[in-house]
Amino acid sequence: MDLFDKCDTDGGYFGIFRAQDDFFFSRPILDPIPGTRTIFNGNKCIQWSINNYLGLAENKEIKAYSEKIVKKYPLSAPMGSRMMTGNTKFHKELEEQLADFTEKESAILFNYGYLGVLGTISSLVGRKDTIVIDKLSHASMLDATFLSPGQFRAYKHNDMNSLESHLKRINKDRKGGVLIVTEGVFGMRGDLADLPNICQLKEKYDARLFIDDAHGFGVMNETGQGTASYFGLQDKIDIYFGTFAKAFAAIGGVSAAPKKVVDWIRYNARTQVFAKSLPMIYVEVLKKILDIVKNGASLRKKMFENAEKLKSGLENLGYNVGKGRSPITAVYVPAGDMKVGMQIIMKLRELGIFITGVMYPVVPKGIIMFRLIPTASHTDKEINETIKAFATVRDNLNLNLDSIKEAAL
Ligand SMILES: Cc1ncc(COP(=O)(O)O)c(C=O)c1O
Repeated sequence: MDLFDKCDTDGGYFGIFRAQDDFFFSRPILDPIPGTRTIFNGNKCIQWSINNYLGLAENKEIKAYSEKIVKKYPLSAPMGSRMMTGNTKFHKELEEQLADFTEKESAILFNYGYLGVLGTISSLVGRKDTIVIDKLSHASMLDATFLSPGQFRAYKHNDMNSLESHLKRINKDRKGGVLIVTEGVFGMRGDLADLPNICQLKEKYDARLFIDDAHGFGVMNETGQGTASYFGLQDKIDIYFGTFAKAFAAIGGVSAAPKKVVDWIRYNARTQVFAKSLPMIYVEVLKKILDIVKNGASLRKKMFENAEKLKSGLENLGYNVGKGRSPITAVYVPAGDMKVGMQIIMKLRELGIFITGVMYPVVPKGIIMFRLIPTASHTDKEINETIKAFATVRDNLNLNLDSIKEAAL
């Protein structure tokens, strides 16, 4: 048996698509410029699959500022890790501004959100500690959990009885600290973590709380400060995490927490200690972006108005769009097998609508979920064209939408 034998099979993640050298359902080749329009297979499509919540990817002021900054620095700047030669006063200033925005004592930058989650959680959780994680948490949190030397327990998605029963069991025979891990806005379904109850349980059982608010950061609350701030609970969050790859339309991530905790992470998060620091171009432009996000109440208002138009239009057609309070629009469609989902995607793309879909275990068996991300930049025309295309798909493919109306999503 050779190590590479598996590469000739259709095993592994998305193995069927890999075996077919697929560029349609996986790895579609798209126009690199993000926006509400994209080009796929030579066809102009309305883009609903990028997390460009505030439309900042097309923001002219940011683009002009980036062009100025790009002239100032080589791509390599600064070289080395923050610990050795890659630290600058600009990194420090940006961290201070982010600490202020997230209402925490201190903050630390990471090069990617994924690396930030991995580094933050794995640096804090030791052998005697336990992670209690929402089952539907993003891969970065699951990977961080598997990488941490402690124990872990997974609670049913947003189910407070399940969370409490795990916390109770742990406290019976507790040997170390406990970290509850959840997303703020769940990025696939668009529902919000039940933070009011999670915060109560965390206090009752003497645990700490990490929230990865990748999809809430810059998006939720009028101020853009995120999901905890939306609930008025920012002060109850022990470690607040955001990425710049979504509403901020850049690259990087940030953990914000009390100073002593951030200092610990700074010296112990291996994904940052042993990696080159965030490039200057991003650091400098992110300061500008942060200002725009802070003053972005009208963009957030427009994004939520667009989300409402899209959700109600699809609901009027009979589609189940769940009850998520974030802009993320999850469209649930009954599908006994993957083929129905593939047909829907093919038909929508033919009609000029670019979307992606997910199946079990993100959603219950027998259901396919399509995720649309309304942004501040989508126009009424684009929203109406999309609703029309969903009506065509419903009729052409004879979708029996009633069958999941009452399903427990
Ligand atoms: C909830 C969540 N956390 C973390 C990440 C990773 O962020 P990044 O793309 O900045 O590495 C993502 C990205 O998909 C995400 O959705």
